[in-house]
Amino acid sequence: MKIAVYPGSFDPVTNGHLNIIERASKLFDRVIVCVMVNCEKKPLFSLEEREDFLRRVCAHLPNVEIDSFDGLLAEYAKENHCCTIIKGLRAGSDFEKEFQMAMINRKLNPALESLFLTAEHQYMYLSSSAVKEMGFYGADLTDFLPPQILEQFQQRIRNTSDNKEIKK
Ligand code: PNS
Repeated sequence: MKIAVYPGSFDPVTNGHLNIIERASKLFDRVIVCVMVNCEKKPLFSLEEREDFLRRVCAHLPNVEIDSFDGLLAEYAKENHCCTIIKGLRAGSDFEKEFQMAMINRKLNPALESLFLTAEHQYMYLSSSAVKEMGFYGADLTDFLPPQILEQFQQRIRNTSDNKEIKK
């Protein structure tokens, strides 16, 4: 059985992430979407909230599971018998960072491959950080966020609107 892990901060999951998850679910027997810690980011939503968002938006995908982990991705992959890390690749700006992480993950776990799925053109510019920034300024987010989480996202943004400092 081929198991892939799709790691990320997912703060929150966007339509761009969902597109990658749906495509990965057709390539692997099982896909584990794992909410992980990115030391460079200060999330708006708790780990549990981000997992809950993902469970709601992936409910139609029977071979997709949601999990979270606060350690190394390479270790998680080993413990959970994942052969491949899935990453979404947007513009060229993603490449250097992702290339470095793929090298590190392979060094830590030589059996692990990294597989990059290019973003669909309508999501090339989309990121959770951009969605949060647009949200703080009241933009219409229906093209960017799955409908299952839109209301809860906007509620949190309203409650946080006195603090517009957005950490990447
Ligand atoms: O959505 P993001 O923030 O770009 O995802 C980055 C993430 C969470 C996948 C990355 O920071 C990660 O793999 N964190 C777990 C710790 C780890 O294994 N780091 C890689 C070694 S540098």
